[in-house]
Amino acid sequence: MSVYKVAILAGTMGENREGLKVLQFAKNQVIERNWEPLIADAGVYNLPMLSEVYRSMKDPDPRLKEIHETLTAADGFIVITAEYNHGIPPALKNMLDYFRNEYFFKPSGIISYSSGPFGGVRGAEQLRLVLSELRTPPVPSSLPVSRVHESLLPDGSSVNGDYERRSKKFFDEFGWYMEALAEQRKKGKPY
Ligand SMILES: Cc1cc2nc3c(=O)[nH]c(=O)nc-3n(C[C@H](O)[C@H](O)[C@H](O)COP(=O)(O)O)c2cc1C
Repeated sequence: MSVYKVAILAGTMGENREGLKVLQFAKNQVIERNWEPLIADAGVYNLPMLSEVYRSMKDPDPRLKEIHETLTAADGFIVITAEYNHGIPPALKNMLDYFRNEYFFKPSGIISYSSGPFGGVRGAEQLRLVLSELRTPPVPSSLPVSRVHESLLPDGSSVNGDYERRSKKFFDEFGWYMEALAEQRKKGKPY
């Protein structure tokens, strides 16, 4: 197992959500590359709507403490987003917003998906802005998954291995930045 820990973030709700297949796909790819997967799935945590950020809480909810520890331990983030009315799902934004320093100067990679042909790219572009503000620079490549209901299987594999092949460049790039920023963080952070 490599030294790198990758937190996989997901943020739709409900037992039958397609997001679970995308989460499993991402987890498979992370394991394939000998990185250690950590999971922060807003759909499991069912967090309250944010009224106070984590860092100012005196006695944080154990769920938030667990997510804080996951994000802190991670060297990078794979953030999975569906596209809801051309934006990102509310549970994902809600989870992201609780935290701040946990993300600092570690890269992120965006996987988007939708039931339509465009693979959630409009949601992905909004997520890119949010992640930039959180100081987890999103790598230039992203991975849109089109027609997710028929492209991915419940075990997270893709039909004909399409997305295993298509995702190579994305994960190569993410790994390169993760290693580069890990080395640079050893010298300190700008703030
Ligand atoms: C509230 C809502 C808004 C949606 N908006 C879009 C959209 O803007 N573009 C799109 O391609 N699909 C849209 N969809 C369809 C989703 O891509 C599809 O339902 C997908 O499976 C959602 O992910 P989930 O199953 O993990 O919740 C929307 C679905 C919902 C529930």
